[in-house]
This record gives sequence, C-alpha cells and structure tokens, in this order.
Amino acid sequence: MARLFSSPRRHLRILDAGAGIGILSAAICDRVLTLPVPRSLHLVLFETDARVLPLLDENLRRCRDALRQAGHELSYSIEQTDFVLANRPACGQETLFEDPREHVEFDAAIMNPPYFKLNKQSAHARAFECIIRGQPNIYALFMATAAAMLRPGGELVAITPRSFCSGLYFRGFRRWFLQRMALRYIHLFDSRTDAFRGADVLQESLVTRFDKASPDGKTIRFSTSHGADLQGAHDVVEYRSSWIIDDTGGDLVIRIPAARIDARIMKVVDSWPARFAEHGLQISTGPVVTFRATRYLLSTADHPDGVPLIFPHNVHPFDTRWPVRKNGKPLALRSCPDSEKFLLPTRNYVLLRRFSARKHVVCEIARLSALGIVVTQHDKLPDIVLHWSDRNWLFLIEAVTTHGPVSPERHREIETMLRSCPAERIYVTAFLNMGAFRRYAGDIACETEEWIADNPDQMVHLNEPKFLGPYKRH
Ligand SMILES: C[S@@+](CC[C@H](N)C(=O)[O-])C[C@H]1O[C@@H](n2cnc3c(N)ncnc32)[C@H](O)[C@@H]1O
Repeated sequence: MARLFSSPRRHLRILDAGAGIGILSAAICDRVLTLPVPRSLHLVLFETDARVLPLLDENLRRCRDALRQAGHELSYSIEQTDFVLANRPACGQETLFEDPREHVEFDAAIMNPPYFKLNKQSAHARAFECIIRGQPNIYALFMATAAAMLRPGGELVAITPRSFCSGLYFRGFRRWFLQRMALRYIHLFDSRTDAFRGADVLQESLVTRFDKASPDGKTIRFSTSHGADLQGAHDVVEYRSSWIIDDTGGDLVIRIPAARIDARIMKVVDSWPARFAEHGLQISTGPVVTFRATRYLLSTADHPDGVPLIFPHNVHPFDTRWPVRKNGKPLALRSCPDSEKFLLPTRNYVLLRRFSARKHVVCEIARLSALGIVVTQHDKLPDIVLHWSDRNWLFLIEAVTTHGPVSPERHREIETMLRSCPAERIYVTAFLNMGAFRRYAGDIACETEEWIADNPDQMVHLNEPKFLGPYKRH
C-alpha cells in the first residue's frame, strides 16, 4: 500500500486514521528508507483503542530511530480520539467539508479503517446524514473525513470493503467523494481467503488510491494479486476513468472489471442500444420477505388459496421447477386481500437467479450416484462435472479461483472420490487469464487440460501425447 503513493516530497505530513499498532505508517517509513535523498516526515495517528497505544508508540519510536540512522527525520503525534468525530469541526453540517476554518492539511493519508454498520441515530451517522443514506458503514466516514483533511493534490490509499462502489446506500457518498477525489488505482484480491487468512474478513476488500483533485478524465489502473502481497500483483491494466465511473444510470457507480473477461462483458453490455427500462423492462427483487409474511406461508402445494412461492432453488437454467421441497421452506403463499402486497400480477416474467462469485454447486446427487459417484458431506466435488453420455466421458472442471488448479494432490483426491465410477475422465483447470495460468503452471497435474477465459478458443495441454480425450487409469 505504501508503494502506491507517488514519489514522496522532501517534507511530508501523513495521516494514519485507525492506526492500530502502526503497521501502515511503518510501511511508509520502510519505503522512505529506500530513498537516497533525506526526507522529513510528520505522522499523525488516530487510534481509540487504549490497549494498542503502548505498542503503537514503541513501533513509531523504532521507525524514528531507523529513519534517523539513514539520514531521514520523523516526528509523530498519537491522537487517542475518535477520528471521525474529532475532525468534524472541518465538516460543517450545511456545507459539508466546505468549512472555511483552518484545518491541518496532509500530503498523504493511509488507512485500514474499521468496518461496521452504524446505527442511524449514532453521533457518527448524524454528522454525515446529508451524504449517506440508510445504514452507513463507518469506513466511508473515515474516507470522507480523510479526504477533507488532505491538501489539494494530496493522496489517499485505503484498504476497504468494495461496497461503496455501488448501491443506493453509498450513492450520496460517492457523489460527494468523487467530486473531490480522483480515483487512480484499484487493487483487487483474487481470493479473499488467502488475502485475509484468519482475519475474519466478511466483505470483499480492495485497495484504492485517490488523489484530491476534481474528476479529470485520466485513466484508472487496476491490478490483482492472489494473496495479501501486493508485490505479486499481476494483470496490471488501465481503463479510462470515464468508462469505469459510470453515471449513465444516475447512480455514479464505480465499475470493477476484475479480469479482462469482465471488461469484455462490460463492453458488450455497453454496446446494447438501449437500457432495460427503454424496453419496458423493470428489474426487481421479489416482493416477499418470508419473515414479514409468516402469516401467509403454506407448507403444502395444494391449498385451494395457495399461489406458488418461488425461491432461488426453484430457478434453473431455462426452467422453473415448482414445487420443490427444500430444508422445510414454505411452498406457497395464501392469497387473500391482506397478502395482496406480496403477490405479483399474472404476466410474463424472466426469473434471474444471482450467482455468487464464490463456489456454486448444483449438486445432482441422483445423477452422480447413477455414475457410481458417491458424494459424502466431506467430499469436495470439482466446480463443474459434465458427463458426455454417448462416450461415457466425465469432464471434471476446476475454476482456479476456488480450490486452485487440478494439482497432483487434487487429482488424487478426486480419483479417490471416483473410485467406483467407470466413466473415463478428462480433467480441466479453468483460469481467468494467462497471468493466473503462469502462476499455477508448476502446480498442475500431468494429463490434464487447461482453459484460459481470456483466450477461450484455445486450450493448453501439458506434456503427454493425447489431447482432450480420457486417459486409461493405471
Ligand atoms: C481495521 S483496524 C486497522 C489497524 C491498522 N491500521 C492495520 O492496518 O493493521 C482499525 C483500527 O481503527 C481503530 N478505530 C476504530 N474506530 C476508531 C475511531 N472512531 N477513531 C480512531 N480509531 C478507530 C481500531 O481500534 C483499530 O485499531
């Protein structure tokens, strides 16, 4: 993160908001240590947790000593106050952040702010109610406060959830923030489990760099890394900021093409001549929230006043199946005048089921057992299992973003699961792009195929004479 700042000036005032034990400030010091020309830094660190303050102070003293030895200077002050509320004087209610009163200006701000939803009545939420709707998350208030404290041209590097990039709750925040801060860089993590192992991170995170400047139509750089180490970043691409920051729907969304294939999909969607609304199509989530409709829920499908209740598990590609019994979920809704608000008029609907980026398993247990595959709760099936019945070939496809590639170990694991299955197998690992393929190249089992989404018409085959046909088991 410290490397994302542009080349540091001779004298720098740096803000570390929610400093913890000071690891981000230490990273900046580490970067300064590599510079041949002496720098003078002043760090201001905000931290409310008294338990970490001694360690924070100790770490900064060490940083100061190390910098001094290398000919640089460091001074610092630790503020044991609430960063957002303490800096609120700079945030007048009417003209938020336009308060003419003097406040300290920083050249750079770095942060890994706390993430939690705020009660609407909390002092934090009330201070920001003119830009944030619904249930604000404290991290956005940290970003906004830091933005207000930067000098023109100052830089903010933050690791935050990505929820601020879209959605209604953050719309006002985006509009306010992006008028003042130009987005320059987004770093994404391929696998959040690897990036934040053991850290109980629930939301998808990203690292961003914003410069305090009006929107200027420059480019935004994107990179991705598999784990937490940004040094291993791959897939560095740049897109025009006017293409990434999209206000055509009035929501000022920050669009995130996580891989080149996403960018291609975005281009295709952009090329459509009209929006859904122009075709008379509206998109909405269904009207039923089950816990609000408990009085009308039915557990049988044949009640005389019952109407079908459609859940995601009823929706299959080009097919809606009803009734389907699943985990005791209700099957129908009792139609009566009081439940009318939960019902949709009889018309034509297209049902969409949202697929999470994470593993989605459509487990056709009956079909698998007919093939001799017995799946226990602990078995990990590949992401996709296809059976070509004419040839009795089984395609076992792993998307590298979930478990990794079909490695020798994974190959053995799947073979054990398939020990009673007579079908011939073809193992395929699917990669998002060439960079991901290169990274895993040393870990791929022989006698497997590789497919790369960026180049979908080609396949790669690692050694052995055969291509896309089964191997006899030894
Ligand atoms: C996610 S941790 C990040 C710590 C450190 N910067 C790091 O990256 O390891 C957020 C820190 O913000 C502190 N914090 C939470 N609310 C705060 C507030 N309102 N003002 C200042 N610090 C706060 C927490 O005590 C915690 O140490």
